[in-house]
This record gives sequence, structure tokens and C-alpha cells, in this order.
Amino acid sequence: MTPGRASKPVAERAAALRHELLEHDYRYYVLAQPTISDEEYDRLMRELQELEQQHPELQTPDSPTQRVGGRPTKEFPTVTHEVPMLSLSNTYDETEVEDFDRRVHSLLDRQKVTYVCELKFDGVAVSLVYRDGVLTRGATRGDGFQGDDITQNLRTIRSVPLRLRNAAKQFDEVELRGEVFMQRGDFDRMNEERRKAGEKLFVNPRNATAGTLKLQDSRIVATRPLQFSAYYLRAPHARLSSHLESLGAAKELGAPISTHTKTCRSVGEIVEFWRSWEARRDQLPYDIDGVVVKVNSFAQQQELGAIAKSPRWAIAFKFAARKQQTVLKDIRLQVGRTGTMTPVADLEPVFVGGTTVSRATLHNVDYIRELDIRVGDTVEVEKGGDVIPKVSAVVKEKRPSGAKPFRMPRACPVCGSPLFQPVGEVNFYCENSECPAQVRARIEHFASRGAMDIEGLGEANVDQLVEAGLIKSYADLYDLRAKQQKLLRLERWGAKSAQNVLEGIEASKQRPFERLLYALGIRHVGAGVAQLLAVEARSMDKLMASATHDLDHIQGVGPRIAESVVRFFADRHNRRLVDRLRQAGLPMEAKTVRRAAEAGLAGKTFVLTGTLASLTRDDARGRIEAAGGKVTSSVSKNTDYVVVGDEPGSKLQKARGLGIPLLSEEEFLRLLEQGSS
Ligand code: IVH
Repeated sequence: MTPGRASKPVAERAAALRHELLEHDYRYYVLAQPTISDEEYDRLMRELQELEQQHPELQTPDSPTQRVGGRPTKEFPTVTHEVPMLSLSNTYDETEVEDFDRRVHSLLDRQKVTYVCELKFDGVAVSLVYRDGVLTRGATRGDGFQGDDITQNLRTIRSVPLRLRNAAKQFDEVELRGEVFMQRGDFDRMNEERRKAGEKLFVNPRNATAGTLKLQDSRIVATRPLQFSAYYLRAPHARLSSHLESLGAAKELGAPISTHTKTCRSVGEIVEFWRSWEARRDQLPYDIDGVVVKVNSFAQQQELGAIAKSPRWAIAFKFAARKQQTVLKDIRLQVGRTGTMTPVADLEPVFVGGTTVSRATLHNVDYIRELDIRVGDTVEVEKGGDVIPKVSAVVKEKRPSGAKPFRMPRACPVCGSPLFQPVGEVNFYCENSECPAQVRARIEHFASRGAMDIEGLGEANVDQLVEAGLIKSYADLYDLRAKQQKLLRLERWGAKSAQNVLEGIEASKQRPFERLLYALGIRHVGAGVAQLLAVEARSMDKLMASATHDLDHIQGVGPRIAESVVRFFADRHNRRLVDRLRQAGLPMEAKTVRRAAEAGLAGKTFVLTGTLASLTRDDARGRIEAAGGKVTSSVSKNTDYVVVGDEPGSKLQKARGLGIPLLSEEEFLRLLEQGSS
């Protein structure tokens, strides 16, 4: 059919389709409660597109077909904001919030003040102007007075209302302000597609958002997963007396607003809101970088006014940066119990993620090579939640001349033995099992809670015993009673503590075989694998006589682990150690070891949060796996228990929200005892 004037029924049909589609956009993108299928939606959209194609005069600026983008523009026209878009003054500090509150009260002559606390979205600020309910102009903030007209681009965002809902006369003139942003998941997917297509990757969701809004071709913008959330509404003809009321009005008009808004009446409440979001920010699907505190009453806002570019009635209370730049002073190698060499960054101390960080992991040589990290470099250090700090990038522009690429030393920095890199592995190992650093780490592991669980034998005590030459291996622990006199001469060791340790060592002889197997510290043999091996081999003798092909078929074991086990027992030193443990009376046979599936915690999923006083994360994981359970890193409805240690992270709130049973450390240990007995 050739384009021609639309008849009345056709025009009515187009209007009905527009209305219906906008309604579905609203239900889907604002309320998150769609009422039709995607296919049905697409069908309606196609029908409208066809009508508009045949009858271009039917196309309106608020038509949902505009969401797919239009012709590219050469340049964005500059527009002047009716009311300047101010920015907020920032603070990171509770005392500055107190100052803010004091200033507000003193300027308001001690009137009662109610604050509204909101999330501070980490995106791009925009202004949307509506005339008689229809979006007529969308702009960036620019310098606060003038911005770019990016209406075409903003129209493509599904949660931006093209037409306000039920806009009564008093809303003939409306300006909505808010943040355009991208959810982290959408961002990752988009970047993944770009990677596959060989395109340049975006650094983070905010950069991706800013970059997208600047695109001249709105058809590309339409393909990017942008979202909008409103935090401000101006309607000169409406009688609104507070920020909360205006948010309510924005919602009524069909704009998406955040549900995480709280009224606060004191600094204490503000700080509580801030803290709780600092801890939970990772649970949100999008990035926030703090909270915004606003005086609720418009009359009071007016009285307070603004200084320079910021209002005196609002403040941004930001979270401590989780990424910071600092200088890499040195790269040291840390020797693990299996001889693994882990490169560790020695840093100029820097405050990041709420603590001062002076060491961060560099993972392995490949990681250092990939990022080309050099001593002397200025690097970015990241830390968040319960994560170990890591060096995530190098600021190449700040590299001092003469900085040399990192070279893996040929010898162990502790014992001087040559380092060995197994074929196909990224890690280097110190092969000398007598290396003092390894000896210490091995004994610590042997005595740890998930392994032989020896009371009183923490890092410091083990160090002291090794240093004093009282023990050189974990087998020596069982000869310690004969050296009691020497023990008592050690600094800080009284009769009582010596007695405790000796009793703890004695008691460890009662641990089951699979725990001993784990305690031996065989490379790649965690608590779960130890359990599998114990079930299969039943005894130490059988295991020691095993060849790779006897073990590698065991489900969950495989050739890498099997080889490691065989290699361990092939070593004369290790065989001697096991003999001595046997003589000391340690269990050399599996008793009633059950398969994991029959064990007490079989099928149970645990999440750990916070620090446990008596176990490391690895130990706790080991114990859970040994009892047939598994550990995952995030809380979901499939989680059976959340174990809560000291200073728990955001997982605790999430668990509370989902009603998942919480375990204190004590309860957890009790459950483990039941689960593995
Ligand atoms: S209110 C005068 N509320 O933070 C008050 N701003 O400098 C104007 N932002 O880039 C802003 N979330 O886009 C306000 N809930 C929120 C916000 C928010 C993020 C951004 C805003 C601007 C910066 C303020």
C-alpha cells in the first residue's frame, strides 16, 4: 500500500496502539509487572510501526515507535535549563554530616527538620521536560546552566515515560530529573558481546552510560540497556510542599522512582541508613556511590537556599572509594604450605574500602605479566566487602623511567632452593619440603581447625616452636611432651599454656582418618578430596601403595590430584613422617567414613560471612565439604544456612531478607560435630 491520508478508524487504531504500548512499557519497565508476553508486545509494536509507515502524519513524539531511535544528528543543540541543575557537596565523614545538620538547624532557627535519604545512583544526571504530559525535551546536565539536547537518545530508554500518566491540569508543565544508569549484569552482558565482536570494552557501567548518551545515532542507543530513575520533580503549577510529595507525584505520573528511600529525623538515623547501604550495596543490581540526604520541606529548602553550585538543603554522603591509586614498592614472594609461591604487592599504605591497605595479592606470574605490573609503578588497588585487596590495574602514564618488567626469581627467597614450575601450571613451587617457610605453613595447616584441630597452636605459637628448633615437622609435635622443659623456657609460655598445647596435641590423635589425610597437606587435596580418598582407599597403607591409575578414576579426583597424591607418598621424607604419625598412634584407617552423600550435611548449602574466631574460611569450607555439604559465595533461596562471623558483610542482610537460618560460630561448630560423627 502507498502512503496516504489515514482514515479516522486508522488514526484511532494508531492512538489506541500507542496508548496500549506505553501502558505495557510502564508495567514492564517501571512497575516490573508485565501483563503480556514479549511476542504479543512485539506484534502490537509492529502493527503500529506499519501504520506509521503508511501514514507518517500519524507519528507523534510520544509514540513508542520512537524508542527504536531515529536519524543520526550531527551535533546536539545546546539548551538552557529553566532552573539550574545544581550539584551536591560531598562528604565521606559522619562528623561532616553532623556539621551539615547543625548548619541546617541554625539557619532554620531550630525548626524541626525531616530529612529524606536516598541512594546516590552512580550514573548520569538528566533532565526531562514535559509539556501537557508529553516528553518534549531531554537534556544532559552540562555545566548546570546549559546542557546538550539528547531528546532522541532519552526517548529510547524504556523506563523514561514518553507521556505522563493521568497528568491533570496542574501538571501541564513538568520537569523530571534523575539518573540514567546501567545495571551491572546488563553491562557485563553488553561488554561480553563487544568482546566477542572485537569491539572496545567499556570500563564500568557509568562510563558506558555516559558514552552511550553521547552517541549521535539514537538507533544504537536503543540497543543499549539503559535505565532511568527519577529523584526530582518540578511542576510550577502543582501545589507540592515537600520532596516526598513530589516523589509521590512523580510515581503517579508514571516515572520510576527508587523504593529505597527513608525518612530520617536525626544524624544517627542518617548514618544508620548510610551504613546499611554501604554493607548491602553489592546486593543492588546497579552501582551506587553513596546516599543523598535532602531536607524534605520545600519551604525549608527555599529558606536554606544555595551557595555557589550546591544547595544548602542537601548533601551527598559518599562511600569510601573501593579503588585507590598507590605506589608499588616491591613484589615479594610468599611461600605456602605446599611450596606455592604467591607474589604479594608491597604497597605505599593507602586507605581503600574502609581500611588501610599495605599488601595486596598479585595472584601469580601470569597475572603480573598480563597487567605488566612493575616495581615503582603507580597501581590501582581494589577492595570491597570481605574481599582480599588486589592490584587491579597499572597507571602506565605514571611509570617511572627505568622500571623493569617483573622476573620470577630462580630460587626460593626463604631457603634458596631452585623453583619449579610444573608443566601447564601457572604457579611456581619451592620443591624443598624442609624450607622453613613451608614447614611453618604446613604445621599451621596441620593444627588448624578444619584439620587436626589442635587447641592453642596458632600461627604465633607455631612460629615460635619452629624458630626455637623444637619442631621441624608436624610429626615432631607428637614428641613435644618429651621436650616440656624446653617448652617452658620459651618466652610467653607458662606451665598452663604448655599444658594446654600438649593436651591439645594428645586429643588430636582421636581425629578421624580423613581429617589426618587432609592435615598432611598434600597439594590439591582439600577436605572434600580427603574424604573421597578415605572412602575409596580405606587405609593409609593402601593409599601409599596406590598408583595414579588406582586413584584417577575416583569421581571428584582426576589425574591432577591422583598424581599429586602419588608424588607425595613417593617422597622418602613424607613416608617417614607418616610412619612417625603411625607410631604416635594416629588413625591410619577409615572407620565409618561415609560417602559425602550419606554424611550429615549432605546436600546442604552454606554461605559464610564475616570472620570466624576459630577457623579460617578455608578450614570452614573444608569441614563443611568433609561432612558432605557445599559452600557457595552468595546467598540465594537455595542456601540452607548462613554462618555469621564477626563483622558480617551484606550477605547477612540478604539472608535475613530471605529468611534463611543463621548460625553463630558456636552453632555451626556444633552442627559440624553432629554432621561428621
Ligand atoms: S539530587 C540539588 N538525588 O549526584 C540536588 N542527585 O551532584 C541535585 N545523583 O550528578 C541532585 N543520585 O545526578 C540527587 N538520589 C539522588 C541522586 C543524585 C545520584 C547524582 C546527580 C548528580 C550528583 C549530584
